[in-house]
Amino acid sequence: MGKAKVIAIANQKGGEGKTTTAINLAHGLSLQGARTLLIDMDPQGNSSGIFVDTDKIELSAADIFLNKTKIKDVIHPTKYEKLFILPSKISLAEVELGSLNVEAPYLLRDAISQVADEFDTIVIDCPPSLSIFTVNALVAANFVVIPLQAEKFSIDGIKGLQTTIESIKRRINPDLKIMGALVTQLKSNTVLTKTILPVIENYFPVFETSISSGVAVGESHLSRQTLMDYSDSAKQTKEYLSFVKEVYDGLEA
Ligand SMILES: Nc1ncnc2c1ncn2[C@@H]1O[C@H](COP(=O)(O)OP(=O)(O)OP(=O)(O)O)[C@@H](O)[C@H]1O
Ligand SMILES: [Mg+2]
Repeated sequence: MGKAKVIAIANQKGGEGKTTTAINLAHGLSLQGARTLLIDMDPQGNSSGIFVDTDKIELSAADIFLNKTKIKDVIHPTKYEKLFILPSKISLAEVELGSLNVEAPYLLRDAISQVADEFDTIVIDCPPSLSIFTVNALVAANFVVIPLQAEKFSIDGIKGLQTTIESIKRRINPDLKIMGALVTQLKSNTVLTKTILPVIENYFPVFETSISSGVAVGESHLSRQTLMDYSDSAKQTKEYLSFVKEVYDGLEA
């Protein structure tokens, strides 16, 4: 069991596949044998909802930011062996991290350092904004993965994301590495390879695996399961497993 490698799943645009990627990467890494913690940094609590009933839990990520509790008290086991969740709920949105508080960007990093020895990998699901929560994730992370759809509007936003990542690297976290962009919800391989891929590659390295669009993803969310749990045979399950392998290999590099 080693000091955890921390992977942030970030894109300030909504609906690009962050949560789907975070939950399936986290479960996939745990299936590879890595003791894994999934941290939900989104007040929407979408990743949390797969694993716990957010109405019933008392402590959540907000309590860490408000300095009301230690990170250890907010970590829950899941039904999956080796996978643990640090849930968030809507109260996280009310946490005001005062802009004059110089510690604000470092709170998550400090909290993670208290449990880093207990996990091999930590995956952070970010909200669809470049808010202080995304900044906290990027400050705490060793790697960032950027899910995005192969569409024009998705490309428009990536310059802003690249600027944010570069400035966090320059000022705070020089070791932050962009692992790559993951193309999600892909409808046609031709569009990807001919038009979109060259544009994305101008900004970020791109994972060899891409995730196709399919109903199994929505169905797995509805049944509160990861894809690996929901269906061994779904195309997206196989694609996410292949993405997990790329990430796993990238952690060693
Ligand atoms: N490969 C896919 N095929 C079909 N639907 C998908 C796929 N990936 C994601 N979706 C659907 O797209 C929607 C957005 O996905 P997801 O919640 O993972 O994105 P997100 O980036 O976390 O969104 P937000 O920015 O709101 O947090 C969901 O309804 C999800 O079920
Ligand atoms: Mg999400």
